[in-house]
Amino acid sequence: MKKLYIETVGCQMNILDSELVVASLRNRGYALADRPRKADVILFNTCSVREHAEEKIYSALGRLKHLKRQHPGKILGVIGCMAQNHQQQVFQRAPYVDLVVGPGQLQQIPDLLEKIAASGTPQMEVSLDRQQGARETIEQSFESYDPLRMPEMRPSRYQAFVRIQIGCDKFCTYCIVPKVRGPEQGRHPKQIFAEAQQLADEGCREVTLLGQTVNSYQFKEGGKTTRLSDLLCMLSEIPGIDRLKFVTNYPRDMGDDLLQAVGSLPKCAHYLHVPAQSGSNPILQRMKRGYTVEDYQEMLQRIRQEIPTAAVTSDFIVGFCGETEEDFELTCELVRDSQFKNSFIFKYSQRPGTKGAEKFSDDVPEQVKKDRNNRLLAIQNSISEKANQQKIGRQYEILVEGPSKSSRKQNQTGDQLQLTGRTMGDDIVVFQGNRRQVGQLLHVTIYEANAFTLFGEVKTEHVGPEIYSISP
Ligand code: 5AD
Ligand code: SF4
Repeated sequence: MKKLYIETVGCQMNILDSELVVASLRNRGYALADRPRKADVILFNTCSVREHAEEKIYSALGRLKHLKRQHPGKILGVIGCMAQNHQQQVFQRAPYVDLVVGPGQLQQIPDLLEKIAASGTPQMEVSLDRQQGARETIEQSFESYDPLRMPEMRPSRYQAFVRIQIGCDKFCTYCIVPKVRGPEQGRHPKQIFAEAQQLADEGCREVTLLGQTVNSYQFKEGGKTTRLSDLLCMLSEIPGIDRLKFVTNYPRDMGDDLLQAVGSLPKCAHYLHVPAQSGSNPILQRMKRGYTVEDYQEMLQRIRQEIPTAAVTSDFIVGFCGETEEDFELTCELVRDSQFKNSFIFKYSQRPGTKGAEKFSDDVPEQVKKDRNNRLLAIQNSISEKANQQKIGRQYEILVEGPSKSSRKQNQTGDQLQLTGRTMGDDIVVFQGNRRQVGQLLHVTIYEANAFTLFGEVKTEHVGPEIYSISP
């Protein structure tokens, strides 16, 4: 039996892609190996959003150079966004790599591996560049690749990602995604429904719908347009699926139909990830985000009105081209005012091939980026901590995901152990429980909290002795 080692970096899309690649290779007789040394095929599923992520892959490849020299029969592959972004460059920087496959060509991996094994020649399959033809031709060169699933590859078999959209058409000036993941295309609602149904049949209870701008989802057929709100209604009907989530949202496409669906469908998590990226209008304009800070705040207000319990999270980029101290202060103000449940903060990383790299200079010094990152993080952490403190004493329903980080570290084997679960608002709750409870929906009461985690105890119904009063 052949052995496969796969390492994944990046977003949820990549985690899902890796699950699908492993499932397709399992069908060809591969088993998973837990380290490169034990594997016949070593794959890196890569990310190009920041330079750091790409450099880490080149370092990891460098560390395998010796192993490959000792065992030339091992196949070394780079797949995903960096493969599409760098193409031949991967072979130039790491000449011992055998395989380069972009995210729109992953379905070819099993055949390409056979070709390499038979011929010994390196193989590359990538999709067309966005300027390389008519939209339809480029669309066809990015294939969606979804039906094969593999619960063992997921953090728990009770949760799964379902892709509803590939690619992105927004072309924010800092972002490489529209280049490496191609044009935005919605999947057919029937396929999405069938996949969720199949997952439910396999015992999955929570489905997270994925798209780069998931709320821009549209599928047009026979004069009818299906939107994300329609999908949520359809998927709510599937028995066994208890929770529906979706990421990532684009602020301008946060329609009232979607907010109403989330507010009224009991299975929808009250959790919305809607990246703002900056709190300064000149920066948002340079980023070509298509909205102003005021538009964003108006959208937040609509969310809070329609779904008062909504937990909203955001992404921010600090140190974008030309960002002044005043621009940054405006971002801090937006974070303070918005009361996000959490914010993911990134230092701007210039990406060759984007409009931002072409038009603007990456002129904020690294030390300033670092400093702004830390300051914004401190503001957000203090907000998150205060919000979490208020949850002490309250009761939440959680879906139990599995052993907590510390249980896993200690390799706990008994039935009684620390478990982790998530609330409908995407809060992580750690509690003392029993292995049997994994995959169950439980009620926990919170007794302690920090900025990132809630600590709870399971509410057990106390059944006291019944007292009968017997009339004399
Ligand atoms: N530099 C830094 N952060 C980036 N992101 C996207 N492109 C870049 C870049 N070039 C961030 C955005 C996005 C998140 C997934 O990554 O905040 O929402
Ligand atoms: Fe990148 Fe903007 Fe598309 Fe998000 S919406 S994937 S940030 S281009």
